Amino acid sequence: MDYQQILENIYQEILPYAKEGKQADYIPELAKVNPDQFGMCIHTIYGETASIEQADTRFSIQSISKVFALAMCLSIKGDELWKRVGKEPSGTAFNSLIQLEVEKGVPRNPFINAGALVMTDILLSHLENPEEDFLNFVRAVSNNQTINYNRNVATSERENGYLNAAIVNLLKYHGSIKNDIEDVLHFYFLMCSIEMSCRELSLAFLAFANHRRKFDYEGIRLTSSQVKRMNAIMQTCGFYDEAGEFAYLVGLPGKSGVGGGIVAIHPLLYSVAVWSPRLNSKGNSVMGIKALELLTTETKESIF
Ligand code: DON
Repeated sequence: MDYQQILENIYQEILPYAKEGKQADYIPELAKVNPDQFGMCIHTIYGETASIEQADTRFSIQSISKVFALAMCLSIKGDELWKRVGKEPSGTAFNSLIQLEVEKGVPRNPFINAGALVMTDILLSHLENPEEDFLNFVRAVSNNQTINYNRNVATSERENGYLNAAIVNLLKYHGSIKNDIEDVLHFYFLMCSIEMSCRELSLAFLAFANHRRKFDYEGIRLTSSQVKRMNAIMQTCGFYDEAGEFAYLVGLPGKSGVGGGIVAIHPLLYSVAVWSPRLNSKGNSVMGIKALELLTTETKESIF
């Protein structure tokens, strides 16, 4: 398969969508990013790689960090984790409060903000140095020691994070948060602020694409079955109220972030990352989804 040629063709085909959508501006630091950027990179488990445009530009991974948090929580808690957070798709926005009230503080899944805030609480309770340990894990999976938090982005989100503050308060009211809510918000925003490029993300996610390979990074160990199940959660919950549409159009497990990044996995074949800041109304990258739809269409490689 000539992935380089395929990616170059895809880029030409998605250019008409370059001005569609709007970048996230509820985090003021993210509103400063030039929206007219696009990058894409693929890595196969056999060592092939291809990339186009700004594949090496770092961006705010935002909710993609929830996949790393889930890997750590599963490694620490095993199936006990599912007592504190569900594993069903939500069909609601990533920052919705409605379901959480009805379900009395047990978030529907780990990828909505409420679920990620509970995972943050678990990490704060179990890790010796949460900020350091989380970063070391992401660096180890990525095989890259230069990956870092962007504290300006985290602070900017904290100063405007009224909805997440409401969510964490509701969780605390229901007894779902053990630590101080300020500490939970601080660490949650910090994890979201990690910056990586498409090349770095697709390389890191090879660890999830190949569940037959040993998963052991900085003491975070997952069984082959746990890695496989993380893919199931990405498939059903990775795109919030657009998970069905993404499965229909693209047909791969994945995770998006409001920085405009999307990572998707073809189990036992490849990992691919795309980035473009302009988002659709569900908070997912317009060009990113288009590019991935074309990838699985043109390669005829999809899990369905
Ligand atoms: O909590 C938030 O709102 C952001 N830090 C992350 C949201 C996000 O990336 C949702 N994904 N599409």
